[in-house]
Amino acid sequence: MDERSVSEVALIYVSVSTLRLPREAEEVDRIVDWSLGRNAELGVTGALIFTEKRFAQYLEGPAAGVDALMASIAGDPRHRALDVVFRRPIEERRFATWALAYAGPSTFVSGHVLTLAEAKGEAARLKHADRLTDVMQQFVQAQLAEQRRQRGG
Ligand SMILES: Cc1cc2nc3c(=O)[nH]c(=O)nc-3n(C[C@H](O)[C@H](O)[C@H](O)COP(=O)(O)O)c2cc1C
Repeated sequence: MDERSVSEVALIYVSVSTLRLPREAEEVDRIVDWSLGRNAELGVTGALIFTEKRFAQYLEGPAAGVDALMASIAGDPRHRALDVVFRRPIEERRFATWALAYAGPSTFVSGHVLTLAEAKGEAARLKHADRLTDVMQQFVQAQLAEQRRQRGG
């Protein structure tokens, strides 16, 4: 096992957006633009989902990087009721190839975010967090495939 794999962690949280139409899409784009640079600098990868009512974000990377980001994110007034479902050591990354992906609103994805936000009890929360992570990963892969298709590759 190399040193990197023992010191990396993954974290997932859900929160409630305080953004209001008509500026919310613009504001989310601003968050994503900013995050692409900073997350890459910190070696953190992951995915952000915005469902128009809530955010869900999966972050993974060196513990120091993930914790530094969370310190900023937790104090951000663009969301509230931030609930970290888990923060745990990982052996491998789920989102190794890009800094951050914005999934955008989707009824299918929002259903999973809501289920996690409302889950009661540790076992149910962890189960739904894992499911949401799978959905995020599939969503991001589909988005990348679509981008490749549009480029004709
Ligand atoms: C839902 C949400 C997710 C965010 N995700 C990230 C992120 O992944 N990386 C990042 O650098 N900033 C992210 N931000 C922005 C940070 O909260 C913060 O504004 C930015 O990092 C600047 O931090 P600072 O004010 O501590 O310098 C996010 C904000 C929100 C509301």
